Amino acid sequence: MEFDPQRGLVSRPEQEIAAHRRVLPVRECEFDVECHGEPDSSTGYLVNIVDIDRVVREHGPPILEAGELHDARWILLRLAEEVERDLGVSVSAIRLRLAHNASLTLERPSMSHIFRLSFEFAASHRLHASSLSDAENLRIFGKCNNPNGHGHNYRLEPEFEATSTSELRTSPRALRDLVGETIMEKFDHQNLNLDLPEFAELNPSVENIAKVIFDDLSKATADSNLEVSLRRITLWETSKTSCVYPA
Ligand code: NI
Repeated sequence: MEFDPQRGLVSRPEQEIAAHRRVLPVRECEFDVECHGEPDSSTGYLVNIVDIDRVVREHGPPILEAGELHDARWILLRLAEEVERDLGVSVSAIRLRLAHNASLTLERPSMSHIFRLSFEFAASHRLHASSLSDAENLRIFGKCNNPNGHGHNYRLEPEFEATSTSELRTSPRALRDLVGETIMEKFDHQNLNLDLPEFAELNPSVENIAKVIFDDLSKATADSNLEVSLRRITLWETSKTSCVYPA
């Protein structure tokens, strides 16, 4: 496996490694570091964030440029250990932000790896409960009860978990393909009430859409040969409204 900041973990023949490294835009990599512990009794600080900046800037680029660049898991673990050694704090999670709102997070002490990806699809729906009167529907759902429907640009953020302690063989590209085939083809540019049998009776609220997507994607992930499981999804209906399932 190779680590590509644009695409994440990818399979790459050995002879391509040198060329790949030359174009690696290290400056575009972003790390998030989460620490835990007791604040210092006099300063009130758990850790001075200036010190985290310093350690990550000092150790991050050399680690990224080292020969083991292809192993993103190694990069994250090594940087977590540098922060712990230099600052004397425990790192509970360290995240490498990739392009296209994707990220890879190493959680400790479980050593789980979380791939978080981001997708967008457009769909229309009408919120209407057949068990309620028209007046009640209008009161509860307001404009969303419009008989001719309305549309949203949904943003879907699935989190896949790799718990295997062996090779991390799953690439974000393989996960993208899985989500594309399973979810995007099914949901994008559809009228959810009319085009998807799941919503013939079920009100297509963001909560219900999230559960249907999770169930579909979870099954497809389990049926695939990818060595990950679907942990949860976040579905954004607007920039302010989202649903996480399972919570
Ligand atoms: Ni709506």
